[in-house]
Amino acid sequence: MRRAVCPGSFDPVTNGHLDIVGRASRLYDEIVVAVLVNKSKSSLFTVEERMDMLAEVTGEYGNVRVDSFHGLLVNYCRTHDIPVVVKGLRAVSDFDYELQMAQMNHGLAGVETLFIATNPLYSFLSSSLVKEVAMYGGDVAGLVPQHVLDRLLARLAERC
Ligand code: PNS
Repeated sequence: MRRAVCPGSFDPVTNGHLDIVGRASRLYDEIVVAVLVNKSKSSLFTVEERMDMLAEVTGEYGNVRVDSFHGLLVNYCRTHDIPVVVKGLRAVSDFDYELQMAQMNHGLAGVETLFIATNPLYSFLSSSLVKEVAMYGGDVAGLVPQHVLDRLLARLAERC
C-alpha cells in the first residue's frame, strides 16, 4: 500500500488544496488528509468542522480519508506508517519554508516530501485570503467548493 499524507490547517479547505489532494490521490493508493490541531492558533472552524468539510469534498476521490493530528507531523507519519508528505507549492515564496520543513522532516524521521506545483489558477489562493475577502463581502465562489462556501458564509454571518 503506497500511502501519503497531505497535512495542513484547512481553515477552510480551498480549491487549491483540493487540486493538490486530487492529483496526489492519483499517485498513491491512499491519501490521508491530516488536519493539524493547533490550540495556539485561532481558527474560524473547529477541527471537527474542517474534517467534515474535507470528508464531504474529497469523497469523490475514493481513496482519500481525513484525520487529525497534533504535535510533530513526523510522529503522525511514523505511527501510521506513512513515508511521504505531499505539499503544494504555489510560488517561490512558499519554497524557502517548505524546503526547511521537508529537510527537517527528513532529518528527524526519514520522511520524504513530494512537492506538487499548484495549478496556476490557484497560485494566489490561501485559506486566510479567502476568509478575509469573504469577511468584507468579496466574492469567493469559485475559490472554494460550494459546500464550503455555504458554511463559510453562514459562519461569517453568525460572527457578524
Ligand atoms: O496549512 P498550514 O497551516 O500551512 O500547514 C502547516 C503544517 C500543518 C503542514 C505544518 O505546520 C506542520 O507540519 N505542523 C506540525 C508540527 C510539525 O511537525 N512541525 C515541524 C515541521 S518541520
